Amino acid sequence: MKFFIDTANLDEIREVHELGLLSGVTTNPSLVAKEQGVSFHDRIREIAALVPGSVSAEVISLDAEGMIREGKELAALAQNITVKVPMTPDGIKACHAFSKAGIKTNVTLIFNANQALLAARAGATYVSPFLGRLDDIGQNGLELITQVADIFAVHGLETEIIAASIRNPIHVTEAALRGAHIATIPYKVLIGLFHHPLTDKGIEGFLKDWSNRKNA
Ligand code: E4P
Repeated sequence: MKFFIDTANLDEIREVHELGLLSGVTTNPSLVAKEQGVSFHDRIREIAALVPGSVSAEVISLDAEGMIREGKELAALAQNITVKVPMTPDGIKACHAFSKAGIKTNVTLIFNANQALLAARAGATYVSPFLGRLDDIGQNGLELITQVADIFAVHGLETEIIAASIRNPIHVTEAALRGAHIATIPYKVLIGLFHHPLTDKGIEGFLKDWSNRKNA
């Protein structure tokens, strides 16, 4: 499973990219809105220049025609842009048009397996099932990853699964086990994956023993 970061913040992207971990970035209108004083297109251009992998930029229009117009503008910003469209009939229509035009797509706001299948059949490059938001309403987000991965495998569908709306390290481990190709993870959760108290304790013990060695 590959790592994407789910943010529009350049400092967060730069820090994780420098670790050599990053295969891509996802943004959404809420994440971009948090970034003050920068235009949407400029920020997407900056992110795309920083990270060579896929950078998802989401359309705002609700009709297919508007999505296609916006998506073409976004795709023209850099060669690694993926156009993110919502899981609606218009979104799927736009996804199909982008697929025919060779523009990569990420169908977002996927909450059941049928939605993922529809998106894959429309030629989506990626589908984004939202784990945390399903858990929030008492449904099993991780079970959705299993279902989508199984369906895509049975039918030989090449669309990649991005486990999205990740809230904790268990989501990450389980998404990997259940066959997500990618997890898009908020900065805080991603950095948290490094830590274990026994790692810290182990380093402390090694350094203590080293400084107390007889021939020091
Ligand atoms: C995915 O691409 C979305 O931007 C994101 O994962 C949504 O996460 P949230 O439910 O924490 O807002």
